[in-house]
Amino acid sequence: MTIAMVASEMFPYVKSGGLADAVGGFCRELSRHEETIAILPLYRSIDCERFDIRPAGIDFSLNLGGEKFNIKVYKCFDNGCENYFIYHPALCDHERLYDCPDSDLRFGIFAHAVCELAANHINIDILHLHDWQSALAAPLAKEPYRLRCRVVLTIHNLAFQGIFSKEAIERLNLGWDRFTIDRFEFYDKVNFLKGGIADADAVTTVSPTYAQEIKHPDFGCGLDRFLRTHEDKLSGILNGIDASEFDPASDPALSFPFDNRQIGRKQEEKHALCEHIGLHNSHYPLFAYVGRLADQKGIKELAEMLRSIADAPLNVVILGSGDPYHEALCKPLEGKENIRVILGYDEALSRRIYAASDFFLMPSKFEPCGLAQMIAMRYGSIPIVRKTGGLRDTVIDFTDSSPHHPNPSVGTGITMERTDIVSFMHAIIKALALYADREKHTALIVSNMKKDFSWRRPVMEYLKLYRALKPF
Ligand code: ADP
Ligand code: GLC
Repeated sequence: MTIAMVASEMFPYVKSGGLADAVGGFCRELSRHEETIAILPLYRSIDCERFDIRPAGIDFSLNLGGEKFNIKVYKCFDNGCENYFIYHPALCDHERLYDCPDSDLRFGIFAHAVCELAANHINIDILHLHDWQSALAAPLAKEPYRLRCRVVLTIHNLAFQGIFSKEAIERLNLGWDRFTIDRFEFYDKVNFLKGGIADADAVTTVSPTYAQEIKHPDFGCGLDRFLRTHEDKLSGILNGIDASEFDPASDPALSFPFDNRQIGRKQEEKHALCEHIGLHNSHYPLFAYVGRLADQKGIKELAEMLRSIADAPLNVVILGSGDPYHEALCKPLEGKENIRVILGYDEALSRRIYAASDFFLMPSKFEPCGLAQMIAMRYGSIPIVRKTGGLRDTVIDFTDSSPHHPNPSVGTGITMERTDIVSFMHAIIKALALYADREKHTALIVSNMKKDFSWRRPVMEYLKLYRALKPF
């Protein structure tokens, strides 16, 4: 069986968040079982020299809305996976990865090019699409390309659907007959993700809980009813993390790499980080946040809570980037002696923070899966999360098993039902009490570090899904 993974980002070539980690780790593990191909846009920011990306000798042109687009295909090999890159200036030559004008045309070109590649240049059995940026390939695979393969669509975040004015129908040769309520049409606009869901043979999302949540109006982002009509083909498979990429014992970003028998070295990493970012009292518990500064992540509630506890004997570090509103909520916290706010994207610093911190804050309003809490557990940082989506599926409160005899082999972190200030304070008090009990804290760290968050199990589930789809 040959599987083509189609995505708008993939680690290590291009990454803006969890999608890239997820697709990269997934491909690497899947290629150990089945022939795996990845298809990505060749953005200007991708370093062709570093990854030895060369022309694949495949060129073709697309005729979209009466305009001709000449496509060039590139490729490289990595860890048993064959990676194809689609190049056209209108798709690839932008300053920003997303939110550019003409995004409908950009990812329309991408989806057409993927289908043309699969129709005439490579053989595939499963076309596995990720998020709205590639979702258009599901209807196109049926008509006009008539691909002889099954199509799986994975939703990593329903909040992003790719909604555009209806001119896209003609501009991208989608056909007005498909501009209907049961396909692309969404409040008189074109919805790429909705069109993809309608035509995919299977739809998955990245955790079992989120697969249930999105059928409810609170989480459905306007598509809950539509998803309910397609629930027979909807399931949730929890993401993994790439266990060799995220490994505190061999991570080159760390000054004191450590495994689960060397927790003392984790302390040294903490002292080194505190010194590096100018936090005094490095014996204080260190609370961390790494991630996008966006409404989804509960940043407003996080900032409010941190303002209230800023005088307590603890340290906080925030690494993130996001929209001006959320960045402005965090920046003033920097005025506190024990809080550091680092705005920007820094892969190496993120690893140091995971490794150095004692607690990892993730008060998300919704979270399709969340990789950060799994990375945190692997690096010995105890997650403090709101119980939603994949956070509910991966973090069990360490006091849940028995309030009097916490069982670290069952629990993994601290959970909150809500993120109001009282619930948040309660969670922080629980964390401080755990920190004061060195033996219990260390036991929980070690037990989390031993857990298997790799792609091994998820890939088994996806293989089962692929095999259950009737072959062509
Ligand atoms: P999401 O995909 O919703 O942003 P995830 O938890 O699934 O959230 O994945 C986020 C990934 O992006 C993690 O690998 C996290 O470490 C990384 N990341 C997010 N923001 C930053 C940042 N500012 N610097 C470095 N890494 C970041
Ligand atoms: C999205 C989601 C996040 C998930 C990631 C990878 O960015 O917001 O929860 O972990 O995709 O699937």
